[in-house]
Formats: sequence, structure tokens, C-alpha cells
Amino acid sequence: MKKKCLLVLFSALGIGAYAQKSQKTIDQKVSELLSKMTLEEKVGQLVQYSGFEYATGPQNSNSATVLEEIKKGKVGSMLNVFGAQETIAFQKLALQSRLKIPLLFGQDVVHGYRTTFPVNLGQAASWDLGLIEKSERIAATEASAYGIHWTFAPMVDIGRDPRWGRVMEGSGEDTYLGTHIGLARIRGFQGKGLGNLDAIMACAKHFAAYGAAVGGRDYNSVDMSLRQLYETYLPPFKAAAEAGVATFMNSFNDINGIPATANQYIQRELLKGKWNYQGFVVSDWGSIGEMVPHGYAKDSKEAAEKAILAGSDMDMESRSYMAALPQLVQEGKVDIKLIDDAARRILIKKFEMGLFDDPFRFSSDKRQKEQTNNPENRKFGREFGAKSIVLLKNQNNLLPISRSTKTVALIGPFGKETVANHGFWSISFKDDNQRIITQYEGIKNQLDKNSTLLYAKGCNVDDQDKSMFAEAVETAKKADIVIMTLGEGPAMSGEAKSRSNIHFSGVQEDLLKEIAKTGKPIVLMVNAGRPLVFNWAADHIPAIMYTWWLGTEAGNSIADVLFGTVNPGGKLPMSFPRTEGQIPIYYNHYNTGRPAKNNTDRNYVSAYIDLDNDPKYPFGYGLSYTQFKYSDFTVSSSNLKGNQTLDVNVKVSNMGKYDGEEVVQLYIRDLVGKVVRPVKELKGFKKVMIKKGETQTINFKLTPEDLKFYDDELNYDWEGGEFDIMVGTSSQEVQTKRINWIK
Ligand code: BGC
Repeated sequence: MKKKCLLVLFSALGIGAYAQKSQKTIDQKVSELLSKMTLEEKVGQLVQYSGFEYATGPQNSNSATVLEEIKKGKVGSMLNVFGAQETIAFQKLALQSRLKIPLLFGQDVVHGYRTTFPVNLGQAASWDLGLIEKSERIAATEASAYGIHWTFAPMVDIGRDPRWGRVMEGSGEDTYLGTHIGLARIRGFQGKGLGNLDAIMACAKHFAAYGAAVGGRDYNSVDMSLRQLYETYLPPFKAAAEAGVATFMNSFNDINGIPATANQYIQRELLKGKWNYQGFVVSDWGSIGEMVPHGYAKDSKEAAEKAILAGSDMDMESRSYMAALPQLVQEGKVDIKLIDDAARRILIKKFEMGLFDDPFRFSSDKRQKEQTNNPENRKFGREFGAKSIVLLKNQNNLLPISRSTKTVALIGPFGKETVANHGFWSISFKDDNQRIITQYEGIKNQLDKNSTLLYAKGCNVDDQDKSMFAEAVETAKKADIVIMTLGEGPAMSGEAKSRSNIHFSGVQEDLLKEIAKTGKPIVLMVNAGRPLVFNWAADHIPAIMYTWWLGTEAGNSIADVLFGTVNPGGKLPMSFPRTEGQIPIYYNHYNTGRPAKNNTDRNYVSAYIDLDNDPKYPFGYGLSYTQFKYSDFTVSSSNLKGNQTLDVNVKVSNMGKYDGEEVVQLYIRDLVGKVVRPVKELKGFKKVMIKKGETQTINFKLTPEDLKFYDDELNYDWEGGEFDIMVGTSSQEVQTKRINWIK
């Protein structure tokens, strides 16, 4: 009785009654369960199907057979099944199976759930690990209340190619920043630990190197040295594994000729071997079956064999495992131990989540209601949206706009969009149109009562129709200031959304030029999920802010920045190219033997004869309504030996009229190495609020650990020698000190 009361109390408080059970007990329970399971039931745990209303890939499942298979214990997990009632209904089917093993419900909770937040690349632009972690805490709380146990996030793929539409889901081009953001997300999702009612399992994806697809074309091949893989693409995954991320997802691409899904080296040797990873690996959608068209397996049976041998534990939607694994075991081609190991890993998670104690514990109408349109979550979304905006240009301090400006015109195809603000990875709910704050509403709500907000759409996102231009020009002529809202549609970046041309789509730039002819001051807001190319605008429009897709509260976040309630402090997490011809472009490139001295140096150097080398906007760049001055940059020593710590200090003063946040960045360059080293590597950053007139001293500490790199034999160590230590406001604007650090 007492125990029961305690349990009720624990679950009412949502604290870890389940998480506290020791791993040993769970291991024993899993062993007992496995000993009762038939081969088919074990394979059943390795099978994941999608629900029927909301598919995120080409669907193989036929609804009637899936329901029957669940009842027979032939399905271990479902994705795209959500909502208290729907998850209860599916779980009840699973409980009709012989051993009553509950289902795991997975879902892409990528940038928020019921409250959506900025698309992930926009979040990364906040460089604010606290905000990012909190957003995932909220996402987990909302999603778990909808019966979801597991998110397919964070995506920790490094993206150096803005043609690849999935850069919107990641944290940009830098391994250091991407690793820290990935860890913040995992902390947010998994909260105080699996088993708590508001914690969901996270999933580090897509393992591995998915972001390096040749030509930026989604699902395309990846071919790179192992050293590059270790240096640039694997660190966020390794860190995620060490941090206890519950699951991994493999990737669609092949790596040096071997699909990641069947890559023994990547999954068995590295992840489950050297890194000793104990969670489970889910395939990407259909990626096991796709090894047939990929030319790596002659049929889905062979694909299943190769995938399980390589350590892919769960088959998402390819139907290969159930069809082939029992037979492969009977034929002696697959050792039953591999099936046991995969099933064990999955069952452990079900125990850790407390599903064997109560399979319905996450599905509660009451919690679901509390987490629907939750005002606190929305308030946070508004703040996070504003802090993700990057101010790219602000000539003559055109921004912020006064609330009492008499007439403001909002022009462009995104001004009155509703669901678009969610961005790519969001689930449509029936009330979306009512609950999303449009850009128009956000601005209107903050303008003085006596001021007027005009609106004209001007054009569509991606056709050639100019018939709305005249009305837009007339609207602009009536205004004191024009806010243009252009970019790419929310469905133009995301999965399978590679673009060869990353300029504004359709006739948007023509519209901008027409409006500019009116001579009215223009503030341009660029809505996008990736870096776009917009040179004409960058050179001719006085004020530009990059607003990504900001989520449920988009309109309020935008208005907060436009009117100066929030002083923008975002910094770009990816380099913005001048043209597609510069791609891939990233700040931490190698110097080459013939580096160009500057943009005009083109004579037998590593440069384009027709284009500058540097990006239009560099990594780490972003302005503020105030101005920051860097001074008194010091290092504690210029000659170090062995395991010492270098103190790096710099004073940052707020010289302008507004309080503001600055992201102070620390880079290093290892001048000579056993393998060549990048011209700059981010090694630290601090986001600080500095009041107007105030000066703060920012301190960084560097140890030999920060100097380590992978050599050509994949040894991870540092070498003595000269290093440049750089601090600054972006990857391009830094001050440098040279030091000598011997071993
Ligand atoms: C994507 C994954 C996603 C999965 C489930 C795949 O197409 O690549 O990132 O988690 O679908 O929706």
C-alpha cells in the first residue's frame, strides 16, 4: 500500500520512479524476457512502421497488415503515431500480443512540437546553449504529453554546403559549435533521465557524414578520407554517445562506397566497439531496403543480412528484417546472438522508459491539454525567435523602427503566412491557422494605435507572375518605411530539398528592385532555412535581418526586433556564399601552398579568376543595434610548456546606445602540423549581455586538450610549436597573438 502511494506520488511529480531502477535489474529482466521469446518475436522488436496519416517518406506499410502484425508481436516500434488517444489505441493492440511487449512511439520532434521554435539552423544562430537546451526541454515535455517516447533528433550533421536542404536541421558548418549544440539538445530532450514523464529518448543522426553529400544533393554519396571524417564529421556523434544519447540513426548515404546502413566499420567497430555505445541504432527511413537500388545488395534479404551484421538494430519502414531475418538465422547466415543483441538494446530502452510498468504512462489527455498552446512555452518561443535573428546590415541605424512611424508597409509573399512560420519539420494540427502569429499580426500589434500598417503580397514565392507588382509599388509609395519579407518558402529547405540555385526564388528580387525605385527606406527580412545568395539586396538595401523560419510566435519575435524591444545578437552558423560557385565554403579551410593574400590577389594563387574568395557574410558574423569595441587582448604567456593552461582575456565594451548581447569568439591556428591545419578553428565562445557604457573582461582558458587533432594515422594528439590565438566578433574580424607551446 505504502509503495503504491509512493509510486503515485512519484508519477504525479513526474520524477524518476522508473529511472531509479538499477541497470542490473533491467538487464536481468531483459534476459528473462528474451529467454521466453521466439525468433520471430525477437525480430519483431527490430521492426518499426510508420502510422498512416502522416508519412515522412515513401510508405511500404499497408495499414490492415500492420495492425495484425502488432497484435502478433511482430512490431517493436511505430513512428508518426501520436496523440494520447491514438497512442493508447496502438498500445492496446501491442498488449494483445503473447508477451505483451509495449511499442515505442518515435517522431521527428526537430524544432519544437506543439510550440514550434526557429528552424534548427536559426536556433544555432543564437549561439545560446541555454536557450537551445530549454527549447528541447519544452519540446520533450509537449511531445511526451502527446504519447511520444522518442524523437529523431538532434541531427548533428555538419553542413558545409547550403545547396543541401537539410542544413536547416543542423547547427551549421562548425564541428565545435555543432557538438556543443548537439549536447545541449540531448540534455534538453532526455532531461533528468529516461523514465521521467517529461523525458524523451534522443537520437543522434544521421550516422555518418550525411551532410557531406556530393554536390549538396540529398541522399547522395560521400567520399572522404577517414581523417576528414574523424576531424569534421564524427566529433558531434562521439560526444553524443559519451553523453548517453539513447539512440543513433544511420544515414542514407554511402561512405567511401559502403552504405552507412551496412557499414561495419562505422557502426560495429567504431560506435559499438571503440566508443562502447550501449543504445540502439535505427535505420533511416527504408535505408535497409534502399541498399538494393544502391547496388550493395541483390535483394532485400541480402540487404537485411548486411544491415544486421553491420549493427543496424531497428528497421524503419523497409520491411526487410521481418521478411528475411528469421530465415537468415535458420540458414546460419546470421548468428542469433546478433538478433538477441539488437532486441536486448531495444528492450532495455523500453524498460528504462518505464513502459513495462505502465505502457500508457505517457499518453494522458490531461497532460496533452496542458501542453497544447501552453502560454509559458509560447512566451519562451517568442524570446527564442527574437534571439535567433541575425542582423546583417543596418546602414545609418535605420533599425530599430519607431512604433510611432506614421505609415509602415509590409510587402512580400510571407507577410500573412501562417503555417509557413513553423518551418519544415513540424506536424500540422487543426488549429494551426489560429495559433500562429503572422508577421503582419506581430508588427500590427506593436505599432502605435495611430499608425497604419499597409500590406501587399507583391508576388508569389516561386513563379514568374508580376501582376501584383503595381499594387505593391503603390502601397510602398504611401509608406514612410517599407518592410520587405522575402526568401525561400518553408518547404524549400529540409529533407529532399536540395537547390542548385539558392537565390530568392521566382520574381522576388525583381519585386525588391521595383520597390527600391520608390526611394523609400527599406528593411529586408530574409526568411529561409539555409544561407541564400542575395548580393543585389546586400549591396543596395540599407537594413537586412535574417529571420529564418521562427515558429509559432514568429510575428511577435520579428516585431520585438524590428521595434527594438530585443536587440538582435545572433551570429551566422554558416558562411554565406557570394555565388553557388563558391560552395562548399567554410571558414576553417586549409591555407594551401598558394593562399591568396586578399580578394584581388588572383595570380597563380588558390582563388577564382572571376570571384572573391571570401564569403558575402562570414561564419560568426552578426550585428547589433549597439556597437562593441574589443580592447586589451592579452594571453597569460607567449611561451608555454606541456600541460599548462593559457588564459586569454579581452575587454569588450558596449559603446552604443542599447544594452546588447555579443558572442565573443575564440579561434586558434596551429601553424605547422604533421597534417595541415585549418587557418582558424573555433575553440570557444561566450555569449554575454553587456549594458550600454559597460565593459566586461571575457576570459577563455586553453589547454593542450584544445590543441589536439587527428593525424594521418588517426592518432588524436597535439604537437608543440607555434599557434595563433585569435579573439573577435566573427571568424573574419579577429585580433591575433602568436604563442609558442612546446610539449
Ligand atoms: C529522415 C530522418 C527522419 C525519418 C523519419 C527520414 O526520411 O531522413 O531524418 O527521422 O525520415 O521521419
